[in-house]
Amino acid sequence: MKILSIGRARSGMRLARPILSSQGTPLVQAGVELNDRYIDRLKQFGQAWIYVATQDSEGIEVEETIDERLKFEAAKAIREVTEHLADENLPEEKQQIDEKQASVFKSVVEEISDCLHESPTLSEEVLGLKSETEYFYLHGVNVAIIAVLLAVKAGWTREKIVQMGIGAIMHDIGVGKIIKLGETSPNDQIPDSIYRHHARMGYEAIKKAPGLKATSANVALRHHEHWDGSGYPEGLKGKDIHEFSRIVSVANLYDQLISPRPWRTPVPPDVAMDVVQSQSGTRLDPTFCQLFALFVDPYPVGMEVELDNGLVGIVALSNAENRRRPIVRIVRTVDERYLEKPILLDLLQKPDIKIVRALL
Ligand SMILES: [Fe+2]
Repeated sequence: MKILSIGRARSGMRLARPILSSQGTPLVQAGVELNDRYIDRLKQFGQAWIYVATQDSEGIEVEETIDERLKFEAAKAIREVTEHLADENLPEEKQQIDEKQASVFKSVVEEISDCLHESPTLSEEVLGLKSETEYFYLHGVNVAIIAVLLAVKAGWTREKIVQMGIGAIMHDIGVGKIIKLGETSPNDQIPDSIYRHHARMGYEAIKKAPGLKATSANVALRHHEHWDGSGYPEGLKGKDIHEFSRIVSVANLYDQLISPRPWRTPVPPDVAMDVVQSQSGTRLDPTFCQLFALFVDPYPVGMEVELDNGLVGIVALSNAENRRRPIVRIVRTVDERYLEKPILLDLLQKPDIKIVRALL
């Protein structure tokens, strides 16, 4: 299978992965042959990228590290909590995270943590596979997954990872309260002066939730603080910002960049990773930026890349030694002439060949 931007989807292509709504229900099933109607529907839904099964990518498989079911269970809980927090018709005591919701977040994060301990790699999570419509609900889940991976790699204990992950999954939950203030939906761009309040509001909501700890709530409060002191709400600097928030900030910036929003198109993972690295030591903690570069793929399996020798390949495997030099299956030239037989090229062994760009 390979990854295409929705703009390159054509009638007759076969979907290799289902397109799911944040309720976890498939909008389009895997295996379905796309036609213009489906493509239009996906564009309307704001889907940025899709996985398609093609002849040239046959045998290239993308492993699913975190089960879709788990992601959508979490997204559903985020939707529910956001709606509760935003619902002015509910009495004040109901505009809170209840015990059941808190325990869903806890068990989802425990499962994510266990999955990533067993298989510490990511696949789709490094892509903005969510749509504009579903962005808000899946963003928390993706941030938690990426932050938990970094924490696993940093050697944190399971207990510590789970406390951080709960904060990560709910870091933007305070936006639910902001919706009320700005009278807008989670997908509208909210003026910064109003939006900033979401950090403290999220903190207050998580702190009051039964069974959740203040250290988790603190992630929501501090996730917009910057390493160099230029962030908010308090302009804390360096290690004065709790490490849970410092790890979440890296994942948060990356996931924002790769996600489609109604007011801007997403950037590909390699570009997003460059932006993250460019913020190392200013906005972000350099230690976690370094871990991020070591363990997240800028060219995920299934992505097409253009090489500087005029050939185009599909990423078949990543190289843990240098993630910017994956193993690619060369299938065609840039001007669409297909090779009789694909060639497998390990870019680690060919330092003279450069990747020009990811083809989206
Ligand atoms: Fe935020």
